[in-house]
Amino acid sequence: MPTADQLLDNGQGVIDPDVFFEMNTPPTNLPEFEAKLEAFVDYHQKNKTRLVFITSGGTTVPLENQTVRFIDNFSNGHRGACSAEYFLEAGYAVVFMHRQFSLQPFHRHYTHNASTGFLDYLVQKDEDTIAVNPQYTEKMKVVLSKYHNATKNNRLLLLDFVTLSDYLFKLKSGTRILARLQEKAMYYLAAAVSDFFVPSQKMHEHKIQSSGGALTLTLDQVPKFLTPLVSVWASKGLIVSFKLETDANLLVPKARQALTRYGHQVVVANMLNTRKQTVTVITKSSQEVVSLTPDDLANHVEIEDRLIPQLVHIHDGWISSDATKACQQ
Ligand code: PMT
Repeated sequence: MPTADQLLDNGQGVIDPDVFFEMNTPPTNLPEFEAKLEAFVDYHQKNKTRLVFITSGGTTVPLENQTVRFIDNFSNGHRGACSAEYFLEAGYAVVFMHRQFSLQPFHRHYTHNASTGFLDYLVQKDEDTIAVNPQYTEKMKVVLSKYHNATKNNRLLLLDFVTLSDYLFKLKSGTRILARLQEKAMYYLAAAVSDFFVPSQKMHEHKIQSSGGALTLTLDQVPKFLTPLVSVWASKGLIVSFKLETDANLLVPKARQALTRYGHQVVVANMLNTRKQTVTVITKSSQEVVSLTPDDLANHVEIEDRLIPQLVHIHDGWISSDATKACQQ
């Protein structure tokens, strides 16, 4: 077990990513996660399908080892679930690593809706028969057909996480399994990962008692896992990270800074309040704002309908530049 001094990597109190994995226990379902992913990747490697590994939703930060309370964030997984559908449409196989109970591809059209619940989509025809309410049938047929197409052809693998630690173990393991696909794999990191956490050795074992008065919490900083992801775990794949800000002045500079710091290929920058209407796609040599027009919005066009084709195009270039390098060797 590392000592407290070994935990500090740079005098700023941030532990090294490797130390995080030594200090925390892997999720009990990690072997099952790995087995499912290995089988999926093998299948698509044989079929030469391109694969995208999508992370989606927020991570929780438990405050107690026997967890009653935790810190969470706003993300409901809309970006990831919606993007998965457009990647499937573009011919990709999709690993959808999502926060448990957050939005899922296809199902998202009928869940998490404040005004229409699941039963509102159904009508009772007679005593023994229920059917889809005719007002929803046309749209549901389209969604159902795309969903069946994805599942029948084994092109969608759903895997879940809950806590930050759960997420990080699965991110490491998952990206290493996909690494064998080399440049054919894309990593689309849309999850809203907590930047602060309570290390398990500093956590209360049992429920924090309110009889102790006001609660003061000190959270440690989570190490930046993009560093080992880009340089070791998935070094040949196309890596798309996201940058979320609430201050417009910070958005592009911070996104560019991430690109320089980690040395990966794409950052998609988005603002909290406009994330469904506009994103900026930033690479080392380009910067493109992708926005929906008022007409698009009136026609319920989703920003992912514009974003995913751009990323697929960048991935095409990434794959062919790798092929060119291979020919020159
Ligand atoms: O789910 P929705 O409600 O639809 O919202 C979508 C979204 C706003 C969450 C999504 O579009 C988005 O921006 N996701 C990333 C948000 C985020 O965590 O940004 P960040 O600036 O904290 O992190 C930047 C990148 O670093 C992320 O891609 C993350 O994968 C990575 N990271 C973060 C923390 C960490 N410890 N290690 C990392 O590698």
